[in-house]
Amino acid sequence: MRIMLAPMEGVVDHTMRTMLTAVGGLDRCVTEFVRVTTAKLPARTFYRYCPELHNNGLTPSGVPVYLQLLGGQPEPMAINAARAAALGAPGIDINFGCPAKQVNRSDGGSVLLKEPDRVYAIIDAVRTAVPDNIPVTAKIRLGFEDRSLLGDVCQAVFAANAGELTIHARTKQDGYKPPAYWSAIQAISANSPIPVIANGEIWSVEDYRQCIKQSGCADIMLGRGILACPDLAKQITAAQKQQANTAMDWLMVVELLAQFCIVTEAAYQRRYVGNRVKQWLGYLRRQYPLAEVLFDDVKRLKWPEEIATAIEVHKQSQQTSRLKQRVG
Ligand SMILES: Cc1cc2nc3c(=O)[nH]c(=O)nc-3n(C[C@H](O)[C@H](O)[C@H](O)COP(=O)(O)O)c2cc1C
Repeated sequence: MRIMLAPMEGVVDHTMRTMLTAVGGLDRCVTEFVRVTTAKLPARTFYRYCPELHNNGLTPSGVPVYLQLLGGQPEPMAINAARAAALGAPGIDINFGCPAKQVNRSDGGSVLLKEPDRVYAIIDAVRTAVPDNIPVTAKIRLGFEDRSLLGDVCQAVFAANAGELTIHARTKQDGYKPPAYWSAIQAISANSPIPVIANGEIWSVEDYRQCIKQSGCADIMLGRGILACPDLAKQITAAQKQQANTAMDWLMVVELLAQFCIVTEAAYQRRYVGNRVKQWLGYLRRQYPLAEVLFDDVKRLKWPEEIATAIEVHKQSQQTSRLKQRVG
C-alpha cells in the first residue's frame, strides 16, 4: 500500500510538500503543473516548480517529487520531460485531469480525455524521450462529459507504457462535487498491467477503507483530505498495519502552522505569507473547529510577524484553557 500526495495547483507547492511529508506516511509527491506549449522551457522554470531538484528530487524528509507536465502536443511534452529528467526529476507525471476552462481551451488537461489517441501519443513520446529508469505516470479523471471513453483512455495509457495510472474518480463534468465514484475504477484496476492509484474524497480512515474496497486499488492519492487532516496518511498507514496511532491534536497542528509561516517566509515575498496560512486554515476548518477561531484571529492580518504572533497567542490561550479544564 502506498499513499501519494495529490498535485494541487496554487496549494501544494514545495513549502506544503515540506510540511506534509515531515508529518509522515506519504510515499510520493507531485509538483504543481508545468504548462508546456511549444517552447523548450528554461531550467529555472523546473527549479522554480520543483526546488527539490536541488536535493535529488526529494523533499527534506526524503520523499520523491515527480515533475508534473500539462500540455497537448507530444513533441514539446517529450522535449521538456527529457529536460526535467536530465535535471534530476525522479519521475514525470502527465496531467489529463485538469478541469479549468482556460487550460482546456488551450489544449491540455481533461479535454484530452476526449481523444484517447492523443493520450497515447503524448505518453508514448514522453516515455520514449525519458530514460528507462525514470517512471512516466499519468493522472486522469473518469472522463470529460461522461465515462464512455474510460476504457479506451486506460488502454492508451497502458499501450504507451506508462508506469502507473492515477484515477480521480469523477468526470470533468462532476467537478469536485461529492461523491467520488470509487467503484467505477474497479474494472480498470482488476485488469490493469500497471498499478492503479485511486483518488478522490478520501477524508478519513473509513473513507480509505471504503475506497480500496470499492476500487480494488492498493494505492491511494490524498488531496484536500490531507490538507484538512495533516496526519491522515499516517493514520491510514497505522490502521492498515493494525497499529495504534494517536491522531494529531489541534495544538500540534498549530505548531505545524507556526513552522509553515517560517518556511513560507523563506520562500516567498513577505506579503504572500498571510494568504498561504489563511488558505491552509480554510482546509483545516473542516477537521478542526478551532481552526475557525484562529482563522478569525488572522483574517485581517497580512505580515508574517503579525500572523506568527497571532498563532503564538492562540496557542497559549489554548494551552491555558486545557490546563484549566484539567485542574477544574
Ligand atoms: C486547488 C486544486 C488544485 C488542483 N491542481 C491539480 C493539478 O495541478 N494537477 C492535477 O492532476 N490535479 C489537480 N487537482 C486535483 C487533485 O489532484 C485531486 O485529483 C482532487 O482534488 C481529488 O482528490 P481529493 O478529493 O483528495 O482532493 C487539483 C485540485 C484542487 C482542489
